[in-house]
Order: sequence, then structure tokens, then C-alpha cells
Amino acid sequence: MELSRSGTDTTETRALGMDKIVIRGGNKLEGMVRISGSKNAALPIMAATLLSSGESIIENVPDLKDVSTMAHVLRILGAQVRPEDNRLTIDTRACRYWEAPYELVRTMRASVYVLGPLIARLGRARVSLPGGCAWGPRPVDFHLRGLTRLGADVRIEHGYIVAESQGLRGAEIVFEVPSVGATANLMMAATLAKGKTVMRNVALEPEITALAEYLNGMGARITGQGSPVIEVEGVSELRAGKGVVIPDRIEAGTYIIAGLVTGGHLHLENCSASHMGGMIDQLVEAGATIRAGESSIEVQGSGRLRSVDMTTAPFPGFPTDMQAQYMALMSLASGTSVITDEVFHDRFTHVPELRRLGADIEVEGNRATVRAVDHLSGAPVMASDLRASAALVLAGLVAERQTEILRVYHIDRGYERIEVKLRLLGADIERVRAEM
Ligand code: UD1
Repeated sequence: MELSRSGTDTTETRALGMDKIVIRGGNKLEGMVRISGSKNAALPIMAATLLSSGESIIENVPDLKDVSTMAHVLRILGAQVRPEDNRLTIDTRACRYWEAPYELVRTMRASVYVLGPLIARLGRARVSLPGGCAWGPRPVDFHLRGLTRLGADVRIEHGYIVAESQGLRGAEIVFEVPSVGATANLMMAATLAKGKTVMRNVALEPEITALAEYLNGMGARITGQGSPVIEVEGVSELRAGKGVVIPDRIEAGTYIIAGLVTGGHLHLENCSASHMGGMIDQLVEAGATIRAGESSIEVQGSGRLRSVDMTTAPFPGFPTDMQAQYMALMSLASGTSVITDEVFHDRFTHVPELRRLGADIEVEGNRATVRAVDHLSGAPVMASDLRASAALVLAGLVAERQTEILRVYHIDRGYERIEVKLRLLGADIERVRAEM
């Protein structure tokens, strides 16, 4: 067996890096927007296809840079990945490589999701350590300790996680804090372990429940998803799966804030209010009018919201992935709010850029004090990560005159055709080639 195949084509990344988004603020957003499939649900499900040998079909997959990066990782491992509209067909019959190289993993941390499936199915894995990200170290120690508990021999060599096993064994794994990535990775690994795995203090996020259901559709025996204790009874083999990716609750939340911040009126289709957790309650407390239907959400903006403090927390708390967007909203509320990120303590790279647009924000430790201002004024700004760039788009939608957002490849990682969707809702927004 060969270890790996190389080759990462960064041409596309470079081309995307040249784009910028230009927004002329002030338009109220009105109309219907269809929410795409969830990036954070699609990525682990794509990795889960490695647990079987066959042809898996995944529907409602968003067309995003992170999804094509995961497809690239799977191809390097020997899979055939065929995208067609929002459907992915993944054939894993020829998967026999076990290395996920640095060139790919460094562009997307979620590549580490192949670790659990590789060690479970092939008995070995060599996956680059993802390293830090724009806002902090983001360790993977829970993933590694958990695999060790399942009986794998895990070590770090030359920047790579190297894991080997003669056959995983079920075990009890207790997380210090709930981790989405570690819960997903270890749940996947445990499906093919011998015996029962009990995982305590696991992540409760809807994306974990969606992954468990997809795995059960492959023949796995997982119970307890959506509660703090997940049990996995190992099986000897899984078959190829078929599933539909749940709606993206973070994209939905971002459009809700777009409706509120512009004082518009939006209908979000294909989304689930029950997946939104504390997000909607927080916005309602600030004075928002939000009505939830079975698979739709209506948001009616009406003037300024109240400034309300917010602290991020694992699901069902307010998600850290919506912290930057909420800060853009609070920048134009009435009063002062304190925003605390308890999940990622340094996640504030959007603050200097929001300040360039006229926001009044001070950061101390993991806390930002936001004094609402009368108006924001357009300026050139730099996207520093995915959700930070969403916050800049939201601010640009209301800022006076023109806002130019550079490095929009960050936003292409997680928002499907954002400028097209926003334009259809009435925003004056376009994507143009920036000068390098
Ligand atoms: C996932 C999401 C990301 C979201 C985050 C928190 C994906 C692809 N990404 O990231 O968008 O912001 O959940 O909701 O779904 N931790 C450790 N050691 C570990 C793992 C995590 O200390 O081995 C800590 C982290 O530093 C953080 C907390 O646990 O403080 C939660 O992180 P985690 O849920 O693991 O985030 P990700 O899975 O990386």
C-alpha cells in the first residue's frame, strides 16, 4: 500500500484571493432567501464516507470552498468525488492511502475529520496537525487522547499526527469541555471499534446529531446523540450511506441579522428554528421580531434594537460562529453591550475592521464592550476569517457610502453565493476583481 498521493492545486485559491466585495450600504433587504446546506454538517459526513467501501450519496451539500477542500482531501485518499449541483457522489472503493497533507489541512482545519475514519477503516492515519488559526491556537488534544483511549498508538512526527492500531476497542471517553470536532472524530472511529464506547460531556450541536444519524444509516449503532452522553456499539462493517445535509444555522443566523440591521423584512426558507438554540432568544431579547415556521423563519426589522450583553456557549447557547455578526448588529443598537466569547477567547480579529467602519468597540481579554454609534461609514476593510468577513458584510450593508472587503476567499469558505443572495434581496453588492 502506498502512503499518499501529492498535489494541491492552489490556482483556484489564488484566483479567489483576488476578488473583493463592494457594497454600497443603505438598502433595506426584502424578500425570500433559501438557506443552503450546513457546511459544518457536510464536512464530517463527507469524511464518514471513508468508513465504508462503496458509493455514498449526499444531498443538499453547499457549494463552498471548504467542501471542495474536503473533496480534495478525499480524492488524495483515493476516493472518487463527483459533485453535481448540490449532490455529492463519493466512491470509496479504491481508498487505500492514509495521508492528509499539510498543504490541504492548513487551509481547512476540518480536514482533521479524516483521522477517525482512516484509523478505524485502514488501521493507520497520517494527518497534518492543523496548527493555529487567525484567532488562537485551537488544539486537537481531545481528538488524540480519545483515539489513544480507543487503543490507537498516537504520536506527533514532523508536524503530523501519526496513528496506528491493530483494531480499535470501545472505551469510556470523558471530555473536559464539549468539542464538536472531537465528538465527531471519535464517534466515527468508535463505529468500527470492538465493543461499546461511551462518550460523556459530548457536543450537543445539531451537526453532531446529523452525523450520528448519517452513520446509523450506514449501519452504525449510535444512541444518545443530542444528549451529553453518546454510546456507540461497534460493528464490524459499515455500508455506503445516503443522506441530506441539514440547513446551515449559521448562514440562517447571518441572514436574520442582515434583515434586522437593515430594517428589512425577510423570509428564510429551508431552515430550522429548533437548530438555532439560544440565538433567536437573544435577538428577541434585543427587540427583534422573529417568527418561526416549520422550515422557515420570518424576520421583521423595525428600527434600532436594544443593546443586550451576550456570552457565547456550546449548543444550545449562542454560537461563537455568530459572535462577530452579533457584534456588527450591536454596533448600531441603542446603548452599550458586553460580548464575551467563552468558546474561543481570542476570536476578535473583526474588531479593528469594524472600528475602521466607525464602530466603537474595546476588547479586554475575551470580552468586547460595544458602545452603539449613530451610523457606520464605508471604508476598505480586510476579511481575516470566515465569520469576521460575514460581520463586515453586515456592517457594509448599512454603512454610509461604499465598503470594500478584501480577502473575500474567507467568506467563500462558508457562504454559498452570498453576494448573489444578498443582491436578490435588494442589497447593492458586487464581487469585483481586486488589484493585486
Ligand atoms: C467547530 C466548528 C466551528 C465552531 C466550533 C465551536 C466545524 C468544522 N467547525 O470547530 O465553526 O466555531 O465548533 O462551535 O464544525 N478544544 C480543545 N481541545 C481539542 C478540541 C477543542 O481544547 O482537542 C477546545 C477549543 O479550543 C474550544 C472548545 O474546545 O475552546 C470547542 O472547540 P470545538 O468544538 O472542538 O471546535 P471545532 O470542532 O474546532
